[in-house]
Amino acid sequence: MNEVKFYKCESIPLELHKVRVVQKLNLVPVERRFNAIKEAGFNTFQLTTKDVFLDMLTDSGTNAMSDNQVAAMFQADDAYAGSQSFFRLQKAVEDVLGKRFYLPVHQGRAAENVISKTFIKKGDVIPMNYHFTTALAHILDVGGKIEELLHDDALQLKSTNPFKGNIDINKLIACIEKHGVDKIPFIRMEASTNLIGGQPFSIANLMDVRRVADKYGIMLVLDASLIGENAYLIKQREREWQENTMADIIKMMTNLADLVYFSARKLSSARGGGICTNRKDLYGKMEALIPLYEGFLTYGGMSVREIEAMAVGLYETLDETMISQSPTFIKYFVEKLEELGIPVVTPPGVLGCHLDAMTFCSHIPQNEYPAGALGAALFLVAGVRGMERGTISSVRDENGIEILADVELLRLAVPRRVFTLSQINYVIDRLRWLYDNRKLIGGLKFVYEPPVLRFFMGRLEPTNDWLEQLFYKFKKDFGDSL
Ligand code: F0G
Repeated sequence: MNEVKFYKCESIPLELHKVRVVQKLNLVPVERRFNAIKEAGFNTFQLTTKDVFLDMLTDSGTNAMSDNQVAAMFQADDAYAGSQSFFRLQKAVEDVLGKRFYLPVHQGRAAENVISKTFIKKGDVIPMNYHFTTALAHILDVGGKIEELLHDDALQLKSTNPFKGNIDINKLIACIEKHGVDKIPFIRMEASTNLIGGQPFSIANLMDVRRVADKYGIMLVLDASLIGENAYLIKQREREWQENTMADIIKMMTNLADLVYFSARKLSSARGGGICTNRKDLYGKMEALIPLYEGFLTYGGMSVREIEAMAVGLYETLDETMISQSPTFIKYFVEKLEELGIPVVTPPGVLGCHLDAMTFCSHIPQNEYPAGALGAALFLVAGVRGMERGTISSVRDENGIEILADVELLRLAVPRRVFTLSQINYVIDRLRWLYDNRKLIGGLKFVYEPPVLRFFMGRLEPTNDWLEQLFYKFKKDFGDSL
């Protein structure tokens, strides 16, 4: 283990890397932040980074790269077909994920597109632990439906359940019996289930899912975008795997799946993505779609530089010191907020710290988007950009009725090796002030609502003058502080 014990002071996460390339940040005055969030239609996706101090929107494509990754980018072999860079990546996929056949794609959702188009037909049902926004959009796009089969307590935000990402096996069997095998092209398991707060599943659970898949002859698909972190938490939390290496755990997970896909924007601290398998028949079914949607089979929409960085990044995922950095910071972040009584998803997961917006803003009705409102408020008071993961990120049903999200979260992403502990402490302090003043935060309503993935481009406005009220109180308490 890489834990460092302290002599006299509180044990804090210690950075086991040094910073050699830096980017200057701006903390613009609160007056500018006030205008910026209005200009952005109260949607943090619409902010520009010129106005953002700490960008906690996502870890996607924002994890820090290593010196070895950057170095590898300079020896890339530029070729439309047959590039040596691709063969290095193919080898990395086989070494790390244990799959021989690899199809490159430009990012995770492109893999979801290819898999959905290949395997799902209208009326099919995809059982899963929980959806991710883009996975759901692609399944719906080809006429499929999903069933989410987490255990009942997985949506309890305050919990001690170490594996909230587990599928309830009884629900899985009932789902298969109800719909019939013919309607179920595959079962989808998502490592570190993103939308419920980056919560892992256990190997024991994945083995049970595999047994069910085998019994009914159904394919098992693993979304491995956050597999490294899930594997790290298995090592921390599942006794049988404590002594194993990251490499063992990751291989065990991927061995249990027929098809593995991933966003390399998350896995491997690079760009791009992929689909991999040991089954030639599955590879063969998807192969033709890669040149159609992505690019030739040896680049799949990625630049050769990205391919090189991805290959190195995949090997680095096996380094526990590297992979533990973000979860360790998140644990610190979550535990400090808990001590202050600020509602946050527990146990600490991966990807980020997830605030429970429905409790934080219990006075805001869910159809006025408490998580979106909290995101706008936090940007105003701190210049910190989070991501709404609640009803704004949900969809409408076939009758146009809004489907209220199971949970209203504001996600504050902690990309790998990007932020310092003092920056995390700054966010904790501003959240403390915001929590004390939470009654000033009000609701939001849509003024522009796109039909698909509305959270990206949608624009909203406040239901009253709450942003002004929050601004005046901030000025009163902080004076001329930024
Ligand atoms: N699967 C999971 C579990 C994800 O978290 C993501 C992306 C994708 C698939 C899609 O990958 O963005 O490369 O197309 N998650 C990002 C996030 C967007 O911010 O959580 P992509």
